[in-house]
Amino acid sequence: MKGLILVTGSEGLVGSRFVEISERKNFLHLPKQVELDITNPSEIKAVLSSYNFSAVVHFAAFTDLNAAEEERGNKDGACWQVNVEGTRNLVEAVRPYKAKVHFVHISTDGVFSGNSDDPGPYKEDHPRETDPTRVTWYGFTKGEAEKAVQEVLGDSATILRIIYPVRTEFEGKLDFLRKPLKLYDEGKLYPMFTDQQISVSFIDEVCKALDKIIIDGHKGIFHACSDTTTPHKLISYMLEKTRGVTNAVEGTTLREFLEKTGNPSYRYPKFGGLKVGVTEAKLGIKFSTWREIVDKLVTQGLGEK
Ligand SMILES: NC(=O)c1ccc[n+]([C@@H]2O[C@H](COP(=O)([O-])OP(=O)(O)OC[C@H]3O[C@@H](n4cnc5c(N)ncnc54)[C@H](OP(=O)(O)O)[C@@H]3O)[C@@H](O)[C@H]2O)c1
Repeated sequence: MKGLILVTGSEGLVGSRFVEISERKNFLHLPKQVELDITNPSEIKAVLSSYNFSAVVHFAAFTDLNAAEEERGNKDGACWQVNVEGTRNLVEAVRPYKAKVHFVHISTDGVFSGNSDDPGPYKEDHPRETDPTRVTWYGFTKGEAEKAVQEVLGDSATILRIIYPVRTEFEGKLDFLRKPLKLYDEGKLYPMFTDQQISVSFIDEVCKALDKIIIDGHKGIFHACSDTTTPHKLISYMLEKTRGVTNAVEGTTLREFLEKTGNPSYRYPKFGGLKVGVTEAKLGIKFSTWREIVDKLVTQGLGEK
């Protein structure tokens, strides 16, 4: 694959790392949101007709889960507008070029419920949750975005799902490891769930998978993440490796937490996680285990003050 790649959301947690380490980093077109707002179809059309793109990697999204929940059911809200309408605008604009422009959509485990009656870890072809009351509003909008990609571009597009993406450093926002590390350093770490099943995505490996997808032209649905663990095991191991402390993390159960806070259970899916078997076979890569991810991040300098 040769040619320019349009990247949306290139200043975010995941996209900005792709910009740093992609094998195709010299071929990326990186408009900021002020230059290309995906809720504005004419801006998208103008960019697509001005350059000869061979791929679009779509990271841009409304990712604030709490703010999204405030907008539940509101299709005029920013979350729906960016995630669903913004994605639809992009794929509609790509449609005329779909034979030569490979559209790659970044998505989330949040499209699955994580409920006991439909538990993860989910295979690549597992059906998305269609009932909005069983997922976060953010997750529902990302599922609707996936649907738009498939409806408009069919087999010519790619969906890459990730879960709790982590990296060694990023000023813009804390992630699933750096936030508890900061809280630990401040003496404010709260108890972690001992009974919630999660996986974690090493952003460097997400970028490697993306390079493979783009360069070799893989189409379909892919997952990029570790094996499953619990937040309690993951954060305990991370603190052992970064701060040399053991038994530093208190445990709690989801039931205790949900009873205490009154939070709805869809905010904290118990049986989450993604499987990567099909992705590993198709892309010919092996994703690290969650322990290996922590080890690699520590080698890169995670937690150095
Ligand atoms: N972070 C997670 O936990 C997680 C988990 C699973 C999947 N994902 C998915 O991974 C992708 C990247 O997530 P992230 O954490 O890197 O996101 P992020 O840090 O919140 O960055 C989002 C990016 O999207 C841009 N953006 C927002 N609205 C836009 C608009 N209307 N037009 C153009 N650009 C817009 C933002 O621009 P500004 O910087 O100008 O605001 C920012 O660059 C998303 O698709 C997300 O759904 C994330």
